[in-house]
Amino acid sequence: MAWRALAALSLLLCFSSSCCDDTQDYFLSETVINNVVLDPQTGRIYVGAVNNIYQLNYKLQLESSAVTGPKKDNPHCTPPITAQCTDAKDMDNINKLLLVNSANGNLVVCGSLFRGICSLLNLNSVDKQVYYSDTKKEKTYVASTEESVTVVGVISYFIDDDTNANLSVFLVGKGYGSSDSAKLISTRLLQEYGEMDVFENMVDASTVQASPFVQRYLHDFRHAFRDNGYIYFLFSRTLGTSDSRKITFIARLCENDHHYYSYTELQLNCSVKTEQQENTYNKVQAAYLARPGEVLAREIIPSNLNDKVLFAVFSADEDGGNSALCMYPLSSINARLKEVIESCYIGEVLEDEKPKTVYSPYISKPEAICKTKRDKEMVKGYKCGAEFLPSPLASKPEYALAVKPIYTRNDMLTAVAVAVENEHTVAFLGTSGADVLKVSSWYRPHVE
Ligand SMILES: *[C@@H]1O[C@H](CO)[C@@H](O)[C@H](O)[C@H]1NC(C)=O
Ligand SMILES: *[C@@H]1O[C@H](CO)[C@@H](O)[C@H](O)[C@H]1NC(C)=O
Repeated sequence: MAWRALAALSLLLCFSSSCCDDTQDYFLSETVINNVVLDPQTGRIYVGAVNNIYQLNYKLQLESSAVTGPKKDNPHCTPPITAQCTDAKDMDNINKLLLVNSANGNLVVCGSLFRGICSLLNLNSVDKQVYYSDTKKEKTYVASTEESVTVVGVISYFIDDDTNANLSVFLVGKGYGSSDSAKLISTRLLQEYGEMDVFENMVDASTVQASPFVQRYLHDFRHAFRDNGYIYFLFSRTLGTSDSRKITFIARLCENDHHYYSYTELQLNCSVKTEQQENTYNKVQAAYLARPGEVLAREIIPSNLNDKVLFAVFSADEDGGNSALCMYPLSSINARLKEVIESCYIGEVLEDEKPKTVYSPYISKPEAICKTKRDKEMVKGYKCGAEFLPSPLASKPEYALAVKPIYTRNDMLTAVAVAVENEHTVAFLGTSGADVLKVSSWYRPHVE
């Protein structure tokens, strides 16, 4: 299989294949664009930019917009900002998170101002605010005030055990910011419910959320998605030791897991070894989940042509260094997760009594886990974990899901999107130099 870059385009924002027609559809934002999301039901595109939210139709024509900044703020003050906050000054509002919640007809918008408070806008007309409150204090702070801290999220649901109510929520993954709330992963309510406020956190799971670890691991979240009853977070983090190198993981949780018992991290490797050298692309930059075209599917997922594949761009650790595109079939990710979780649950330990396949990344007295030998059948019955099973877990480096890059470059790839044209898979790759590359695959018989 060969992947080639066909053309370098430098369009700012151009998704549709009508790009190559006479009229070029484009939208120019006056400020830096932070996030772009598509509503699959309407074809509308929402753009989260510094100080502005834009609503575009499928031809990238502006339908509506909302101004979110600059506003008087100070990251150390508790909103609402009043005269008591002495050092408040006009600050830009960087868009941190943008999510389409079709079920409620809302756009979830979280910015860097006011401790990362979110608001809900009307999907049909983003100039109409559906919900905003800056008086609910700490429990409703979601995003980060810091420009460099990345935030990702995904819409999901939460069943209240007492009333069986099916509540609309979103899960958030957020790195460490010095004046943020410390939660690594949280589940945020998207509606008013009983005593609870919109955006309040629904899950208290001290092991996954504990602050000393968040500060040590320096998570850098790049993507979140849901598929088939699971929520996934893709990020890089340090190993918590003196080594500051970032390693990539995908974490998986069951949807509606009220305690995050199912939280498990799998290390992803993207590297190539030749006789001369080993090139490791350890830090994930961006990713896109897609069903590949038939040609590619026959090659990498022959037993399940409908399986989805995670396309991810990675960089080598050094600044501005090399980067690569790697592909991970979701079925391979799930199979490896099952393997390492099962190994722990059935009590596979090494001679030194440490677990064979996993470690416990967020517990201070580690490795006293996986010693109880449980029945394999029972493990199947608790695929989302349980109180009496060890959690959270992370795979050891030897059990990383390792693949070879399908495309490499000696500059920085920062974005990826995938489309299928005539059963051929085409990846659009963005670079730090603001180029867009079109990379496609075609089948070649194997030459041994
Ligand atoms: C709860 O609602 C969501 C859609 O909002 C749906 O996908 C999910 O299946 C529902 N869950 C249950 C258990 O009814
Ligand atoms: C993944 O990479 C790490 C760090 O480079 C290495 O220690 C580990 O052995 C690799 N795992 C696999 C399965 O290749």
